[in-house]
Amino acid sequence: MSTMTGPFRITLLPGDGIGPEIMTVAVAVLKQVGAQHHIEFEFTEALLGGAAIDATGSPLPEETLTACRSSDAVMLASIGGYQWDGLPRAQRPETGLLGLRSGLGLFANLRPATILPQLIEASSLKPEIVAGVDIMVVRELTGGIYFGQPKGIFTGENGEQRGVSTMAYTSSEIDRIGRVAYEIARKRQGRLCSVDKANVLEVSQLWRDRITALSADYADVELSHLYVDNAAMQLVRAPKQFDTIVTGNLFGDILSDAAAMLTGSIGMLPSASLGASGPGVFEPVHGSAPDIAGQDKANPLAQVLSAAMMLRYGLNQPAAAERIEQAVLTVLDQGYRTGDIMSEGMTAVGCEGMGQALHKALQT
Ligand code: IPM
Ligand code: MG
Repeated sequence: MSTMTGPFRITLLPGDGIGPEIMTVAVAVLKQVGAQHHIEFEFTEALLGGAAIDATGSPLPEETLTACRSSDAVMLASIGGYQWDGLPRAQRPETGLLGLRSGLGLFANLRPATILPQLIEASSLKPEIVAGVDIMVVRELTGGIYFGQPKGIFTGENGEQRGVSTMAYTSSEIDRIGRVAYEIARKRQGRLCSVDKANVLEVSQLWRDRITALSADYADVELSHLYVDNAAMQLVRAPKQFDTIVTGNLFGDILSDAAAMLTGSIGMLPSASLGASGPGVFEPVHGSAPDIAGQDKANPLAQVLSAAMMLRYGLNQPAAAERIEQAVLTVLDQGYRTGDIMSEGMTAVGCEGMGQALHKALQT
C-alpha cells in the first residue's frame, strides 16, 4: 500500500488575460503528477487583479488574502489589462499583486533564467553568446522604491505637482535577502553578483556595505558588485559570466525581464516568491498578455514550470518537480512550439495543444 503525501492546500489565482488558460494547463499537470507521485492537492480558486476588481471593486479582496494565508502554497497566473489601466492606483490590478506580496511577507523573489538547448534559436542573441546561460536573479520584493515612504503625487502652494517615490532599505531588509542569495549561490556555482547604484544612491551604498559584510559568513561564495547600468550591459554582452544575482526591487524588476529574454521567450520562465515562513507564491515572470487572451495562443510552460517550482521550493516534493521539468524538455524535444517560441520546422500548437503534449509526455 502506498502512502499519500498531503493533502496540500493550494490557492489558485488565475487572474486576468491569458491567466485562466495557462492555469488550466498547470493544474492538469499537477493532478497528473500528483497521482503518479501519491501527492494529494486541494485546489481553491480566489480572485486577484482585474477579475477581483470587476467582482468586488478591490484588486485584493480580504477573502483572497485570507485564503492564501491559510494555504500551503499559492499559484498565481497573471494580472492586469487595458480596461483597468485608467483606474486610480489603489484600485489597479498591480496594486493587488503588490498587496499580496507584502501581505504574505514575500521578500525573496527567485527568477531563474536558464537557456534550454532546444530554444537557442528563439533567442534574439547569437547562439554562442547564450548557449549555457544559467542565471538566478534574486530580487528583493517587499521593500525599496516600490514601498518606500513618502510616496504620492503632492501639489505645492504654487499649484506645481510633485511625484514622489522613495527608495529605502533598512539593514535588516538587506541582510535577509542577502542571506537568501548567498545560500542559493552556495548551492549553484558559488558566485554571487550584487547589483546596485552605489556610485549615486545612498540606499545602494548601504546595500553594498551590508552585502559585503555578510560575505564573512559565506567564505565559499565569491562575491562581486556591479552598478546596475553596467549589469544591464553585461547581461546582453556576456551573460555567461553570471551565476546568481542579488538586487533590490526595482533593479530586479528590470534585470529579470532582460535576463528572461536571453532565453528566447519570457513565456518560458517561472518564479518563486518566498517569505521567512508561510506559503510562497509561484507565478510566471510574464504578464497577462491581453492581446492574445482567450485565443488559445498562450505559452503555458512558464506556468507549468512555476508549478514545478512550487513542488520544489514550496512543498518539498523534488521528484515530482523534476518529472514536470523533464516533461517540458520532452515536449520541446518533440518539436511542439507555441507562437512565442516557434521556429522553422517545428510543430505549432496552442495553449491547449501544449497541454495535451505535456499530458502524453507525463504518461511515460
Ligand atoms: C513583475 C511585474 C510587477 C512588478 C508589476 C505587475 C507590478 O512587472 O512581477 O515583475 O513590477 O513587480
Ligand atoms: Mg516586471
